Amino acid sequence: MQKIVVGGGVPLRGEVRISGAKNAVLPILCAGLLGDAPLVVRNVPNLHDVKTTLRLLAELGAGITLDDSFTIRIDPTRVRNHVAPYELVKTMRASVLVLGPLLARHGAAEVSLPGGCAIGSRPVDQHIKGMQALGAEVAVEHGFIKARARRLRGARVVFDMVSVGATENVLMAATLAEGRTVLENAAREPEIVDLAECLVAMGARIEGAGSDRIVVEGVERLDGGEHAVVADRIEAGTFLVAAAMTGGAVTATHARPDTMSVVLDKLRDAGAALECDGDRIHLEMRGRPRAVDLTTAPHPGFPTDMQAQFMALDCIAEGTGVVHENIFENRFMHVQELLRLGADIRVEGNTAIVRGVPRLSGAPVMATDLRASASLVLAGLVAEGDTTIDRIYHLDRGYENIEAKLSALGARIRRID
Ligand code: UD1
Repeated sequence: MQKIVVGGGVPLRGEVRISGAKNAVLPILCAGLLGDAPLVVRNVPNLHDVKTTLRLLAELGAGITLDDSFTIRIDPTRVRNHVAPYELVKTMRASVLVLGPLLARHGAAEVSLPGGCAIGSRPVDQHIKGMQALGAEVAVEHGFIKARARRLRGARVVFDMVSVGATENVLMAATLAEGRTVLENAAREPEIVDLAECLVAMGARIEGAGSDRIVVEGVERLDGGEHAVVADRIEAGTFLVAAAMTGGAVTATHARPDTMSVVLDKLRDAGAALECDGDRIHLEMRGRPRAVDLTTAPHPGFPTDMQAQFMALDCIAEGTGVVHENIFENRFMHVQELLRLGADIRVEGNTAIVRGVPRLSGAPVMATDLRASASLVLAGLVAEGDTTIDRIYHLDRGYENIEAKLSALGARIRRID
């Protein structure tokens, strides 16, 4: 199994190009199932989760062509199979996002239940509730969600809690439903806005994406289209935290600063100087960061996907940071590993109290989930000596070429077998 070895102590300097967002590209690729003609998706990041999604779409019968390394064409015209098997769904929860498109376009979908994952139980009840509201018959049996409908009917769907995936799934389904659908208590993430823009390019009629009330006027059919994926705000945030922790000066290019204000504000609170100019974000940090408190919340609140990285920053900051995780019940798995590097963290329920220490010391650690892995890389960048991170397949699910990008900024980092 591959590992990453990070040597600490080098301030990062230079420019890093931000890739397309993992959390935007996955639903957009699934949206390719909705049309009657090919969808061309640009700015696609080279990630393991993208490959898993393409395998799933191919399994359903879609034609997949790679125009170049960043551009994928999905041809849905030969989709005949409506089953998303356990083998694929268990490795990537986002596979559940084929439910809405298959149901809306083909009248039937069987999607394996995703099951638990490292960061919590993560049910899909809101996805199911949404499909039922649109008139689908849904049964959960033999580990599968089995949904059926002759044609979905527009309806008012009020989500019990804010869910990114459920909002995306029901939004996609509603584009082909008969009549008007109103999604209330919808998630407001930039990735939802990006999905809606792609759907509109395919001929969908959607208003209000980015607010908590999305209105969809169903259409008879959708076309193909072309769409470039929005920049990854989590990848950008991760590199900026790395720059701040190492006392460096880094410019993130091809970024979307307008989608990550709360993260940029926290970096300023930590003492970083930040300048945004179009799609460029420049960060400079002198000296040790100040500890920051944070509470995760749905967008526009602080993203849970940046919690672990900011906790790594708090580990070496001046002062004490208090971190509340409100989205997932088990998202502190990185704490045990950060402790192995010499951090001072106490966990009480969903709160972590992080007392900054002057330095961490390198050690072997284990990646437990995607963003937890990123926090270990960040900690390794400032720890004395070498930090060896095991199980880095988690990192490859969501970061494109992280070691190449960090090396280009001067980090001592390499992958070993
Ligand atoms: C997406 C992101 C993930 C991010 C998360 C929260 C993708 C591919 N993944 O995941 O990186 O961490 O948003 O910003 O975009 N819930 C239910 N019932 C449901 C659905 C969700 O109880 O039917 C709960 C979940 O267990 C969780 C909370 O709602 O506690 C938020 O989950 P959700 O927004 O759905 O996350 P994902 O879409 O899975």
